[in-house]
Formats: sequence, structure tokens, C-alpha cells
Amino acid sequence: MMKFLTYISLFILTSSCAPFVDSPFSDALLRPERNLNQLSISKLGNIEADGKITLAVFSDSHQNYKQTDKVSFEINRTPNVDFIAGLGDYTNSAYNLEYDQFIDSIGLMMYPRILAIGNHDAIGAGPELFKKAFGEANFFFESGSFRYIYFNSCNLEDPEGFNPQWLLDRVSESSKPVIIFSHVQLRDPERFFGSDATILGQVITHPNTKVIFNGHNHVYNFSLDNNTIMMQCGRVDGEQGPHWLLVEITPGSPGQFCVTRMDTMENTCQNLK
Ligand SMILES: [Fe+2]
Repeated sequence: MMKFLTYISLFILTSSCAPFVDSPFSDALLRPERNLNQLSISKLGNIEADGKITLAVFSDSHQNYKQTDKVSFEINRTPNVDFIAGLGDYTNSAYNLEYDQFIDSIGLMMYPRILAIGNHDAIGAGPELFKKAFGEANFFFESGSFRYIYFNSCNLEDPEGFNPQWLLDRVSESSKPVIIFSHVQLRDPERFFGSDATILGQVITHPNTKVIFNGHNHVYNFSLDNNTIMMQCGRVDGEQGPHWLLVEITPGSPGQFCVTRMDTMENTCQNLK
């Protein structure tokens, strides 16, 4: 009997040793990766060496891991991508297990990945989880001809991290034309009112601001706002197949912006303002 109980005890001890995370709502991650955005930025090198900047852009993967894997596969077989821009909402509820799964997913992407935070990623412990894995949600970096600014647009979920004046200051001080990456469209009438809307309006119309990328609305849309390109990426789980954007930006005066939506292969080109 003692022998039997010993075997049972050993079985229970050795068969229940999966990593333990206190709850889905905590800021504990199983994945060990940290500061992933800065790590990607440090790997960029001279992204304008071929005379243009080539970006792969995706957004709103949520829990669509299968479609995200397909997007990763398609991006990986596309030559000369300088970096991959994620526009947020990689989770549904910002649970730590969703962050872990997403970090696992993007491990398949072979180009540097630089990611914005989405409103779904900013619920509860979300901002802490994002900071832990990817770093600060407001940041910028530059290539020879452009400044790239990533903006935390989650005013309702993460009011402490939402700072439109920081964005306007980074745009205004720049000696180079600016490309912005945001989850929410900066004119969103359901989120931005009063002084916030005024400041974001100044960002959009600022002479330095050439292109603003956003996700959040799950559908593709290309438009101009005071001649600034407003490039909205749809969700990866598109109705016409895996959805992502292949973007080529050519510096110059004027520079040029070309986008191909990779589910339908529709192509649009526009001079930068
Ligand atoms: Fe969203």
C-alpha cells in the first residue's frame, strides 16, 4: 500500500509541473523575450540603401493565430522588407496567455518587427505586459530621410500612456519628414474630443507629417486628410484571405508612397505632400 501511495504521489508531483502563472490577468509572462521593439530597431541598418523603404504592415490579429501564421509566411517569402510594422490588437483581452501566444507567433517572422499597442492590448495589466515584452509604447527612430513615430492611441484603456502632446512635440521638432504608426485613427470621433482632438488635428495637418498608419477598424482604407496619407490596414483575418500591406516609400521631393493590399493585390500610389 505504501509503495502504491508513493507511486501516486510521484505521479502527481511530476505530472503537474507545467509552468504556473498566477492568473490570466496578471503581468506575468512565460515567454522570456524583453524589449523586442528596440532589439528590432537595433537590427535595421541602412534601410534606404536601395533607394526606398519597404514595409510589411499588419494589424488586429487578435486570436487569429492561423491567419497570422499565413501572413508571416507570406511576408517571409517577400524579398527586401526593411521592417514589419504591427498596428496593434494582438490580443482580445490583454491576458498574459494571449501575449505569450502572440510573442510565440511573431517568432516566425524573419524581418525586424516593430509594434504599436492596440486598445485590446491595453486592458487591465496590458500596458505592463506590452512594456515588459516590447518596451515603451511611445517611441521613435529615424532612417536617413524619415522619422518613424509609434504612438499609444489607447486613451480610454491607458489614459496614463496616452499623450498627444508628446506626439505633436516629436513631429514639430523633427528635421525630417514623419511617418506615424498608431492603432486608432487620429481623427476617430468616438475617442478624441476637445483638446485631444485639437492636438491630434495639428499632428495630422503638420507639414512634417506625410503618412499616418492605423488599424482598429478592421477594414482597408486609403484616404487623404489635408494631403496627409491616412493608411488604414484591415485585420489579418480578411474576408478575401490573409490581409497585410506591402508599402514602398521613396524619399525625395516629392517622395512617393505606394501600397499593395496583399489579399486583393489592389495597388495605390500617391505623392507625399
Ligand atoms: Fe482596436
